[in-house]
Amino acid sequence: MEKRINLCMKLLLAATIVASAYTVLWNVRSVNALTGTAASGFSVTVNSSGPTTALNLSATINAGTGDVGTFGNTYVFLNYLDLWFLHNGVSWVKFDGKTIPVYSSGTLPARTNISFLTGQDVSGLAGLNFYAGYGDNAQEMLASSRLKQFYTIPAISSVPDGVALYNANCAGCHRVMSASSARGKSASQIQSAIASNRGGMKSLSFLSSAEIQAIAAALF
Ligand code: HEC
Repeated sequence: MEKRINLCMKLLLAATIVASAYTVLWNVRSVNALTGTAASGFSVTVNSSGPTTALNLSATINAGTGDVGTFGNTYVFLNYLDLWFLHNGVSWVKFDGKTIPVYSSGTLPARTNISFLTGQDVSGLAGLNFYAGYGDNAQEMLASSRLKQFYTIPAISSVPDGVALYNANCAGCHRVMSASSARGKSASQIQSAIASNRGGMKSLSFLSSAEIQAIAAALF
């Protein structure tokens, strides 16, 4: 009985040693593959379509050639002003200054596709930055420059609305646009009427030259 237990213990011990040796080897292998400068072939490609009011955004993490098939953690970050948000695989969480949650974990495929936005209105979030990358852990990823900023929500180019500006600032004196005495006047004529305070127009000197140009274009 005693002998059998001993044998069992020995087998168990042997198995544990083999298992831990395997773990060590596995770790060494993945550390070797992932440590150092960003492996060649690593990149994040972006697919975006639609206006910022209904944006589709997805990204593909292309693992470095030597990293494919090794074990790694994938990370997905967002940065807006001073705030960081990290994806834990289920939802976005605000960075607490300590924990960096893992988006996904396992054997690294050549390509990891992640969908970020499907038709969302993000026009109010100009400057929001997207990041993705992978590593043995977050520290190793950051030290190896394997976190990549791949997209920034663009600002909507603001072309002033000449019709709206005319209705708000001019129609009170010059009547509706179709019947306006200012029809066909150029931006420089409007500018000089304001500068010379024609009919009290000096109060409109807050209008930018882009806004005056938009009004002139609408009056043309
Ligand atoms: C407080 C009333 C008032 C407002 C507001 C006002 N105007 Fe005038 N504007 C006048 C008067 C009065 C004149 C001089 C009479 C005229 O030429 O119709 C004048 C003259 C002008 C002239 C010169 C016309 C010419 O023959 O050279 C232009 C151009 C003009 N306005 C454009 C505008 C535009 C564009 C706006 C809005 C951004 C505006 N005005 C807002 C009262 C106003």
